[in-house]
Amino acid sequence: MGMFREFLEKELESIEKKHLLRERVILPKGVVDFSSNDYLGLKDCKETKKALREALDNLSLSSGASALMSGYTEVQAQLEEELARLKDSESCLVVGSGYLANVGLIPALAGEGDTILSDQLNHASIIDGIRLSKAKKVIYRHNDLNHLEDLLKRETDARHRFIITDGVFSMEGDIAPLKGIKYLADRYNAVLVVDDAHGTGVIGEGRGSLFHHSVAVDENIIQMGTLSKALGSYGAFICGSKLLIKYLINKMRTQIFSTALSPVQNFISLYNTRLIQKQPFRRERVLDLAEYTVKKAKELGIPLNYHGTPIITLITGTEEKALYLKDRLLERGFFVQAIRPPTVPKNTSRLRITLNYSINRQQIDSMLTALKEIY
Ligand SMILES: Cc1ncc(COP(=O)(O)O)c(C=O)c1O
Repeated sequence: MGMFREFLEKELESIEKKHLLRERVILPKGVVDFSSNDYLGLKDCKETKKALREALDNLSLSSGASALMSGYTEVQAQLEEELARLKDSESCLVVGSGYLANVGLIPALAGEGDTILSDQLNHASIIDGIRLSKAKKVIYRHNDLNHLEDLLKRETDARHRFIITDGVFSMEGDIAPLKGIKYLADRYNAVLVVDDAHGTGVIGEGRGSLFHHSVAVDENIIQMGTLSKALGSYGAFICGSKLLIKYLINKMRTQIFSTALSPVQNFISLYNTRLIQKQPFRRERVLDLAEYTVKKAKELGIPLNYHGTPIITLITGTEEKALYLKDRLLERGFFVQAIRPPTVPKNTSRLRITLNYSINRQQIDSMLTALKEIY
């Protein structure tokens, strides 16, 4: 056992030396959070809490089993119906988390003889899902349609082709060119899978990236998303044809062998899915705040990268610089997370500024003034 302890210590030492050590923080009260994915300010929503209090007596605290045993509940069925409608899909399957959705969905879809074409900057859960499948993995350069087409042309022998992309890239904030990608998917007979963890609730009138690009949903499009970001809850969904969902219920291991979400959690998701459609001012405000941040930063000479979403970056290159900026900002009451490898490629460490509904313009002004001084 002594040797194992040494191994742990050495590994951590090496991570720390490279400025890559990660720690969890509990944000002190009063710190303004520029790192949350709670884009629409729903995680502390008073209206949802009130509705939950009123419903609680009639909700079980746990589902008690997987959905295929006895864990499937009325509230989950209603949530799936609501999400299918939001995503203009025939059917929907709700599962434990976005990570579980991707590591379950991809191996269920693709196996030996299939090819998955995956954007270079796709989320780790997609990368892990592809690893778990036995399909051939082909990476295309980030959002590069020409490269994607070149690679598709070479994959004619594959049984099935899948193109998988984030809708909104979590660490860049840019939106995949889904019109062009869908055109290529149709031309080369590929199924398109969009991970819309960061697009859902925020862009495309709240319906996500495909709607933002006016791409019509058809049976060769699979939309995945999480309930834990703009929807202020926990869990994830996969929307597609009735046939696909029936297939996944039978084939997707993270759905079969994992306990269904608690009815309490599903109630929150359902309530918030309805709420975001009734309260478009939430997404309008967060998009407005993002635009405001970039305009103000420009006036101050801070070079932010902005793509029309609430995820904005300041590339620092080195890990030290990103950490330095994060620490100094935290001392002044602003939490802006430093993102380092392996979450982003080498030499592209950054501050990731995310806006959310609960932030105001004054707080943005103060954060940027502080950033300017430190930067
Ligand atoms: C693009 C993307 N996909 C999937 C996930 C995983 O979702 P979850 O946090 O619900 O596991 C995330 C974020 O965590 C993400 O950014």
